Amino acid sequence: SIINIAAISGSLRKGSYNTMLMNSLEDLLPEGMKLTIVKYDDVPMYNADLDLPDATQRPEPVVKLREQLAAAQGIVIVSPEYNYSIPGVIKNAIDWASRGEDSPLLKKPVALMGVTPYTWGTTRMQVAFHPVFEFLNMKPVYKPEITVAQAKDKFDPSGKLIDEATKKLVRKKLEGLKEMIQG
Ligand code: FNR
Repeated sequence: SIINIAAISGSLRKGSYNTMLMNSLEDLLPEGMKLTIVKYDDVPMYNADLDLPDATQRPEPVVKLREQLAAAQGIVIVSPEYNYSIPGVIKNAIDWASRGEDSPLLKKPVALMGVTPYTWGTTRMQVAFHPVFEFLNMKPVYKPEITVAQAKDKFDPSGKLIDEATKKLVRKKLEGLKEMIQG
């Protein structure tokens, strides 16, 4: 049966390079996989008063976020690096999704990648994710590592990934994710 992958971007802005990379995944998917783009713009800041022990209080966008992640057998996170670390918006979404024994993140295979307009970005963000994956017992596909640097040269004006070397790496990463899911 078809493997459903949830893809989530660490940037909410319209012209986001990371969202461009996320939207380019579709064309690079291995056979037997489909992609669901997860939007979370309307997820509020985490507030434990609206969370467990009574999950029925969770804001509607949080419920939707968790459902979309739960429907996926694997997750792809495409995120920028902010101040050498994880952008708050995506960390916030992950925190909401992480709570409870029914968390849709627990033990789930995950592939992480990032885009920076500069030369050296995203590796520190990726390292900052390691303890998060560890705490949630997630299964990261570590290799190949994907940092897309000098972003403006890697996408065409419509936002499609045009860099062949990056495409090859992304395909490999998604194949790794598929293998991880299939065990
Ligand atoms: C950045 N940026 C950045 N880039 C990087 O490579 N390393 C970093 O540590 C940071 N830090 C940082 C902090 C904050 C608050 C902002 C707003 C930006 C630049 C960042 O990579 C750039 O804005 C990207 O274009 C963001 O990704 P999207 O929105 O294009 O996907």
